Amino acid sequence: MLGVPDVEAVLVWSAGRRDELPWRQTRDPWAVLVSELMLQQTQVSRVILRWHQFLERFPTVTACARAPIGDVVTEWAGLGYNRRAVNLHRTAVALVENHDGVIPYELDALLALPGLGPYTARAVLAFAYEQDVAVVDTNVGRILARQRGERLTARVAQTFADNVVPVGMGWSWNQGLLDLGALVCTKRSPNCEVCPTASTCSWFVGGSVEPDPAIGSAAVSKGQSKFVGSFREGRARLLDVLRTGVEVSPEQFQDACGWNDRDGGTSDALRAADSLVRDGLAVERNHGALALP
Ligand code: ADE
Repeated sequence: MLGVPDVEAVLVWSAGRRDELPWRQTRDPWAVLVSELMLQQTQVSRVILRWHQFLERFPTVTACARAPIGDVVTEWAGLGYNRRAVNLHRTAVALVENHDGVIPYELDALLALPGLGPYTARAVLAFAYEQDVAVVDTNVGRILARQRGERLTARVAQTFADNVVPVGMGWSWNQGLLDLGALVCTKRSPNCEVCPTASTCSWFVGGSVEPDPAIGSAAVSKGQSKFVGSFREGRARLLDVLRTGVEVSPEQFQDACGWNDRDGGTSDALRAADSLVRDGLAVERNHGALALP
């Protein structure tokens, strides 16, 4: 039916595809949660090794909760978007305090945890507990909008996706859609010729005329802003210095950010330091020096 993905065709296309991804070979909810947080904003190829290393250091919820946040932030090095590490640690602490260290089976209980959004909560249910819920990330949001041929609000996209999940097949279906979005129904120049569900795609059948309905749809990211030369870059450099285990004094902030030649570098560096503290990535010590928490 036009506007509704051809479930059978997508399942056939995705069967066995990328099964070697390590987080597809486990149903351990902690391992799945860590993978899904890492995969938000970071490429699959960069995540694989880091996921193994992270789980070696923090094999369980309890191991993570017991560690200082700084250790988790250090283990996150190179993955970017470091607040995810703080959120993961907060989630681990809340799981130990409120759920005996067990990751809940219910959506509402997952959503009540600090740092778990609708995507991650459903990903845990689908990929660890094999529940028939729909996982809507930026890739899936793009597929849905193109299938329907219109921009979708977050609520419509989620309801639509929930209604399409084949009974008893939530795990395979969601992994398959993620792959379809990542490999075929890409943001720019989608490869519609090889898409298993092109025949139901309203946008494709209508001639792929602009505007692409995926652009501006809820759940579809606008892409990451440029990192090189950005405020985020300097802030990340400062955090990388803290990760070596040293304290950094306010006089050293600008140098640590790599902003000695930047216009307004002194005040930007102070702002970067403030924002690390605000996000829980650093703590203030004597005389305004920063250290890992
Ligand atoms: N991106 C987000 N979740 C993923 C998964 N489970 N496999 C591959 N890529 C992903």
